[in-house]
Amino acid sequence: MSTLDALVQIIANGVKDIQSKSAERGMPYPMPETPPSPEGEKLQSDLAADAAPVIAAAWQLIATLKHPHTYLLELGTLTYLSGSMSAAEAAYVPDVLREAGTKGLHVNEIAAVRNIDAGKLGRILRHLASRHIFEEVVPDVFRNNRISSSMCTGKPVQDMVRSPIDRWDDTNGIAAFVSTQAETQRGNAWLAEHLLDPAMGHSQESNEAPWQRAMHTKLTLFEWMERPEHALEMRKFGISMRASTSSDDSIVTTRGFEWASLPSGNLVIDVGGGVGSLTMSLAKAHKHLRYVVQDRHAVVQEGERLWKATMPGFVENDIVRLQGHDFFAEQPITNADVFVLRCVLHDWPDKYASKILSRLRDAAQPTTKLVVMDAIIDYMCRDSGAVADIPGAAKPQVQEPLLPYADSATGFMYGLDVGVMTIANCQERTLGHFVELLKGAGWKVERVCRFEPPLPQQLVCSPLAPKAVLSTVQHTAHL
Ligand SMILES: C[S@@+](CC[C@H](N)C(=O)[O-])C[C@H]1O[C@@H](n2cnc3c(N)ncnc32)[C@H](O)[C@@H]1O
Repeated sequence: MSTLDALVQIIANGVKDIQSKSAERGMPYPMPETPPSPEGEKLQSDLAADAAPVIAAAWQLIATLKHPHTYLLELGTLTYLSGSMSAAEAAYVPDVLREAGTKGLHVNEIAAVRNIDAGKLGRILRHLASRHIFEEVVPDVFRNNRISSSMCTGKPVQDMVRSPIDRWDDTNGIAAFVSTQAETQRGNAWLAEHLLDPAMGHSQESNEAPWQRAMHTKLTLFEWMERPEHALEMRKFGISMRASTSSDDSIVTTRGFEWASLPSGNLVIDVGGGVGSLTMSLAKAHKHLRYVVQDRHAVVQEGERLWKATMPGFVENDIVRLQGHDFFAEQPITNADVFVLRCVLHDWPDKYASKILSRLRDAAQPTTKLVVMDAIIDYMCRDSGAVADIPGAAKPQVQEPLLPYADSATGFMYGLDVGVMTIANCQERTLGHFVELLKGAGWKVERVCRFEPPLPQQLVCSPLAPKAVLSTVQHTAHL
């Protein structure tokens, strides 16, 4: 069978399977024109693993059918798609169209909301419609589809106009995430120049990346966001962290690490927890636990405002405490049952990531667990480079001619990997890299819990014996 035939067959069989699983649940698989609904979103989340090989095959089919020149020209301009998404969000288009309803709205009226040039906005929306984000109903009239609706904040447009900084509050973080790309991708254009720079290209410092070159600053992104003039970016970044868990909170709270079976009163420390997005989900689902969210002081202040507004009672009743703490300094909590690091290590080059982990190891009891939640990068070849003997480490490969891991082949985590490289010389890591990094800081990876991206994977770790004990053991063994 030719590659082309094989890809088409994977798509045809996969789609049939997805349709029959949807029918078993009594609903058709949602189309772009299907209005958003919690049931439809849950169905898509639940069938994500079934959809992954079909999507991987569809990408591969495109790469196979396109002339290589055309393929490269098109992918070379993908960055403008991201710019167009941020621009549409900044013009409040999803919410303007939500209020307009199914008839849609002429671009002149959409553009008037934020006094934007209608001709330019129309081209931006057409670009997005060409990739199934919005629909052009008749020339220059646009309406939402299921995908663009997911960028809605749900707030009245009038309120958004009156107070732009509040528009992401109490949302699922998708609009905020789309908007953050306008800041975080600024280093992207400088990547090649930066890599070739003999002075900077090899730097492993988090304030010497392409983003700093583009922004003419020596501040890290986190320091930059704390400046008073970047209050909007800071607010947005905090809320954008919800985006990767928002499709279905229950997946994170009921699968992977066994939160439910922790004894009542156990203490969970969400280190570098931002405004507490993860802890919000956990605290709602597992009220028998106690939580501390630690982050930089400015972020904690932002968190206090948000918890008061959206999670009344949790802080007031001591279920959750928000604590300003620099994770490079000594960890003040020494009776933690669980430390969590979600999407933290990928922000730091190895020597800094190792320091964060060592601080936690120094404060850990022998029974303390560490749950690292981050993407795990796969190699793009069939030799998986897998780390043997760790439960959950093995990952099933999909059939040839597909690339070995269907979820990887759909792309999100590799984009993120290069994204964090451009922002702070940091990275997503392979499992082997994680195991070594954690071991060097005194942690053993006990097991791996797999999730469908964009949800982060979980590495459940326990403390290795203190270094002194280790060296004694090694010494004795040697004798
Ligand atoms: C990518 S965000 C992840 C936030 C959170 N864990 C989540 O998943 O929603 C990284 C977080 O690390 C925090 N951070 C950066 N430097 C820090 C430091 N030195 N001490 C404590 N937190 C820090 C940032 O403020 C930010 O909230």
